[in-house]
Amino acid sequence: MDYALLKSVHMTCAGLSGAGFLLRSMVALRDPDRLRRSRLARSLPHLVDTVLLVSALAMVFQWPGGFAQAGWLHTKIALLVAYIGLGAVALSPRRPRRLRIPAFALACACFGLIVASAITKTPLGMGS
Ligand code: HEM
Repeated sequence: MDYALLKSVHMTCAGLSGAGFLLRSMVALRDPDRLRRSRLARSLPHLVDTVLLVSALAMVFQWPGGFAQAGWLHTKIALLVAYIGLGAVALSPRRPRRLRIPAFALACACFGLIVASAITKTPLGMGS
């Protein structure tokens, strides 16, 4: 598939993923069980995140210089793992609010760093 198209799909899914996480976090902070009752809130994020990752992988295979040389991509993957883990804690109805709120803040920080590293192509998005 064309690289520019993959990048557009990836960026659209990145936006949807971030906005969806914010929305679900707002709902979960008020009523954590509500997310479990909504079929859309349970299934749509998986679809968006799958397309986000598949488009990422398809671009990585075409990345000039190869994946091994791209430190910012390695950082992005590590931050993505942290974002998923922290996001799961932030949205979990089983966790106390005093844990969910800092997990939400840290997940947002990870998301911001992922976007910054994608834009600057440097590991922590601090420029070269
Ligand atoms: C929450 C997860 C992610 C978010 C929010 C995200 C966000 C973004 C954004 C905003 C861009 C466009 C940057 C620009 O303006 O040039 C981008 C590009 C890209 N991302 Fe991601 N990304 C995520 C996950 C990943 C993962 C896991 C990988 C693979 C390791 C990946 C690989 C890439 C690649 C190869 C590009 C294209 C860079 C270019 O050609 O300029 N992304 N990403």
